[in-house]
Amino acid sequence: MKAAVYHRYGPANVVKLTETPQPTAAPGHILIRLRASAVTAADTMIRRGVPRFGRLFLGLRGPKNPAMGTQFAGDVVEVGADVTGFAPGDRVFGETGLAFGAHAEWVAVKADELVAHIPDGMTYEDAAPLCDGPLTDMNFLRNLADLQPGQHILINGAAGSLGTAAVQLAKAMGAEVTGVCSARNAAFVRSLGADHVVDYNRADFTRHSGRYDVIYDTVGKSSFGRAKHALKPSGLYMSPVLGLGLLGQMFWTKCFGRKRAKFSATGMLPVDQQRPLLRDLLELLRQGHLRMIIDRRFPLDRVAEAHAYVDTGHKRGNVILELGQA
Ligand SMILES: NC(=O)c1ccc[n+]([C@@H]2O[C@H](COP(=O)([O-])OP(=O)(O)OC[C@H]3O[C@@H](n4cnc5c(N)ncnc54)[C@H](OP(=O)(O)O)[C@@H]3O)[C@@H](O)[C@H]2O)c1
Repeated sequence: MKAAVYHRYGPANVVKLTETPQPTAAPGHILIRLRASAVTAADTMIRRGVPRFGRLFLGLRGPKNPAMGTQFAGDVVEVGADVTGFAPGDRVFGETGLAFGAHAEWVAVKADELVAHIPDGMTYEDAAPLCDGPLTDMNFLRNLADLQPGQHILINGAAGSLGTAAVQLAKAMGAEVTGVCSARNAAFVRSLGADHVVDYNRADFTRHSGRYDVIYDTVGKSSFGRAKHALKPSGLYMSPVLGLGLLGQMFWTKCFGRKRAKFSATGMLPVDQQRPLLRDLLELLRQGHLRMIIDRRFPLDRVAEAHAYVDTGHKRGNVILELGQA
């Protein structure tokens, strides 16, 4: 089968297409013929090997596992021994975690990992990124912030993968939402439901003194130190972008002061903590609260181009690899 691989950390041109053996459905696994995969900002960070301490898991001198891609949607073709809940023909989506291999024509995943049925009527391309932006947002908005109706949340990076879903989910949770993006995306972010939009080239939201209950910096462009003045007295600053500064502030604010800083690595949570978030996310989807935003689509043989586009840092919502005809 065709699969994207990388053998050294670096720019998008380290991504190569290769022929690899098709996986099989070992006991406890399901074999999936992939239809779509999302190319995420996290995928490109893994490719670059940043932040550098991530190489402790990925490989110090170069990637230990050359397979690429984590987000997938496709059709179950075969189930291994001891698998319950899935059958050939099921439409499924999920995340491979550190096994990778979603930028390929086929993947085999453990049936008890993060894999679920695609809701009726949902396309493969809309389902493929669900465990990236939307699930991460559920972790941050529900678990970290416990966002309540009437609270005011500022979402920095509102036009990205996490941002587009966060604006919609925060509105569904009854919050007042301020989205931060460039002027190019202002009307778009409003169309997702944002009550207010800040153009980061014209205004600095960190100067909005004491305005927000929660600041969710989905793209990690600010810091707790700069943004805390914009928080209400017991406000929360949170970001999914890991840095040593944020980790330090997280531990410091846990012990001292009323304003807090938080980080979480959603994909590293145990599956039994991710499943309830996914269940609640699917319910919000069923109720029509979330529209998936697809920016660009690429065939698998242009996977390096897809990575280069995500590298610009200005994608709108999600970038999709199209993997074969349904
Ligand atoms: N911790 C976790 O659990 C977790 C899980 C998933 C992802 N992540 C991380 O989350 C981060 C965000 O991922 P993503 O996929 O949402 O990113 P993304 O889609 O690539 O972000 C692109 C967006 O960022 C906006 N942007 C660029 N510069 C900006 C600025 N200075 N201020 C505000 N917005 C700006 C762009 O809007 P304009 O074009 O309008 O500038 C664009 O729409 C990544 O670092 C990823 O690794 C963490």
